[in-house]
Amino acid sequence: MAGIKAPRGVRDILPEESWKWAYVLERTEHISHCHGYREIHLPVFEQTELFSRGIGETTDVVEKEMYTFLDRGERSLTLRPEATASMVRAYLQNNMHSEQQPVKLWCAGPMFRYERPQKGRYRQFWQIDVEALGTSNPLVDVEIINVALALFEDLGLSNLDVVINSVGCPECRPAYRDELKAYFQDHLEDLCDTCQNRFDRNPLRILDCKNEKCREITAGAPDIYSSLCEDCRIHFDKVLEGLKMLQIPFHIDKRLVRGLDYYTKTAFEVLSGELGAQNAVCGGGRYDNLSEAIGGPRLPGVGFAAGIERIVLIMEQQGCDFGPKPSVDVYVIAADDLSREEAFYVATELRRNGIRADLDFLERSMKAQFKSAVSKDSVFTCIVGEKEISRSVVTVKDLRTGEQSEISRKDLAGYLQPRIRP
Ligand code: HAM
Repeated sequence: MAGIKAPRGVRDILPEESWKWAYVLERTEHISHCHGYREIHLPVFEQTELFSRGIGETTDVVEKEMYTFLDRGERSLTLRPEATASMVRAYLQNNMHSEQQPVKLWCAGPMFRYERPQKGRYRQFWQIDVEALGTSNPLVDVEIINVALALFEDLGLSNLDVVINSVGCPECRPAYRDELKAYFQDHLEDLCDTCQNRFDRNPLRILDCKNEKCREITAGAPDIYSSLCEDCRIHFDKVLEGLKMLQIPFHIDKRLVRGLDYYTKTAFEVLSGELGAQNAVCGGGRYDNLSEAIGGPRLPGVGFAAGIERIVLIMEQQGCDFGPKPSVDVYVIAADDLSREEAFYVATELRRNGIRADLDFLERSMKAQFKSAVSKDSVFTCIVGEKEISRSVVTVKDLRTGEQSEISRKDLAGYLQPRIRP
């Protein structure tokens, strides 16, 4: 096809799919409210510094994946690659510390990352983001994981795997970093180029490299548990205890370090075998130092984000229910050319009475109009012709039963309403 296309990695969510998204968002709102999380709308672009300082200069997201531009006032702005840094910024800017803590918020919207597109990975994608700010209570980590799982269960997702780890804190991580570096030093030449690059800048990231050779090497790497400070160890134990208490099955994965630098203590992901290489449907964790990294006071927080494209993909593959597909209640059919305007009035009248109505605008035959009624899953047809107009009636046909009756125009909405939504 000639002409302008959408940029690579970006796609249209067409009506055949968008109603499924609406369902996922509607259930997200329900589950979030059920757990005491309130909705917030955040800007799609922010000052670049928010992300470079918040997410970390040495992360792939900040180094390679951000859509950064100068506005007309020469300010560096970035299309948000994620929502957590913005959540913390919004909390600080709007003095939410004066509200009852923790402040529990959720949002949904498009995120932007310049990644290599593949199944389940796009350059514009939607996240559902749920965050609890203002407490370091490990039970809130458990609550956050539980919100994610409650949502997935509500949507009917099955065969999910919760993996969890502790990534320590600025107090205990430096010692672990040194230990890791000492280990990787002996294997440096066998690591992939990316990991050799990570060695000095961010050795923890070597742990979740997908390269076969790197994985062999990391299998023997020291794990963080022996390096955790007492505070981190107690926190991790309490989170695991809480998960057990709620009977949430999980696996500890000592290689799970996540791609964003703000994490402290808890890091987790929910994985699905349905997704191929991009197997994470959700990722999250605790970020007690993020606020300070962006110039704010100490503000502990924990949250998760889940990708809507990936949720919908799994739901489709597992044959999950998306609720009723939007359809029209009534298709209004003009029996002859002189009745087309009248059909339009009838449809408008029905719509004004809360009935979902549609009709033909291409002056098609009655047969074609009937076909449209069926293809739009209409429950009723209302036939308007010269004969009906002269007597101020409409011929109503119930497509479920084939039953047909003549109803006076003034009684039409009242007749249909209880039959459509009893
Ligand atoms: P993340 O792991 O980078 O974490 O992303 C979370 C989820 O967003 C992934 O598990 C995946 O479902 C989806 N996702 C990420 N990148 C893409 C992509 N390119 N295409 C499609 N889906 C994608 C975060 O973003 C953190 N802010 C999560 C968090 C919240 N941590 C604490 N609070």
